[in-house]
Amino acid sequence: MSQRTRLIAGNWKMHCTADEARTLVDALLPQIVDAGDRDVLVAPPFTALSTVAECLRGSSVLLAGQNLHWEDRGAFTGEVSAPMLAAAGCSHVIVGHSERRHLFGEPDEVVGRKAAAALRAGLRPIVCVGETLAEREAGTTLEVVDRQTRAALAALEPAGLEQVILAYEPVWAIGTGQVATPEQAQDVHAAIRGLLTLLAGSRVAAGARILYGGSVKPDNIDALMRQPDLDGALVGGASLQPADFARIVRFAA
Ligand code: PGA
Repeated sequence: MSQRTRLIAGNWKMHCTADEARTLVDALLPQIVDAGDRDVLVAPPFTALSTVAECLRGSSVLLAGQNLHWEDRGAFTGEVSAPMLAAAGCSHVIVGHSERRHLFGEPDEVVGRKAAAALRAGLRPIVCVGETLAEREAGTTLEVVDRQTRAALAALEPAGLEQVILAYEPVWAIGTGQVATPEQAQDVHAAIRGLLTLLAGSRVAAGARILYGGSVKPDNIDALMRQPDLDGALVGGASLQPADFARIVRFAA
């Protein structure tokens, strides 16, 4: 097995007021105290970040934003910047989630600018890539993932590449209950690691964490984590259920 520390990340999306977030974290923490050899992260909505940061004090659970703007400040109504996330207690930020790309029209190039902004503020970007069902059926999965990954990484300095976490999330698997098979995921993860070798060298590629996301549940996490290039999971729906998320964190590989 690889030396990479596995990371289980919960993406709460547009769920939880600050009070609901506190209830969720308070229920979760006692169930994951024994998860020592893996990293755990939660990404609440912006309005719950400071509450969750407070609840997490003294625990090793990491905090992430779900999105950011690429400028540090300015006249960008409704946006939140990397320094603001860092000041709210975040160490990570999700960038280029498929819901941002497909529901809000975020192009590849913007994903790269956002990843660069995150790194400037000392945040580790979790860059999401993944094909739609039509793209998979057309046989262009690897092409799409290659294009998205290159675009996101092109904007980064070499030192920044070491900080990036990638998440392969096939769009057809997100929120659908239709998980990629461990083999389908492994194929794409291996291709992404191959691309990282080309772009950043073998040391960076070997150390980079590549998460899988898309309908990860307690009953499929173990098989996914047995694949050599799957270094964790980005979990949506199941991260809102403390018992389910805790079981995913405590996966058996
Ligand atoms: P899901 O979402 O686990 O609900 O499929 C995953 C994600 O969007 O990151």
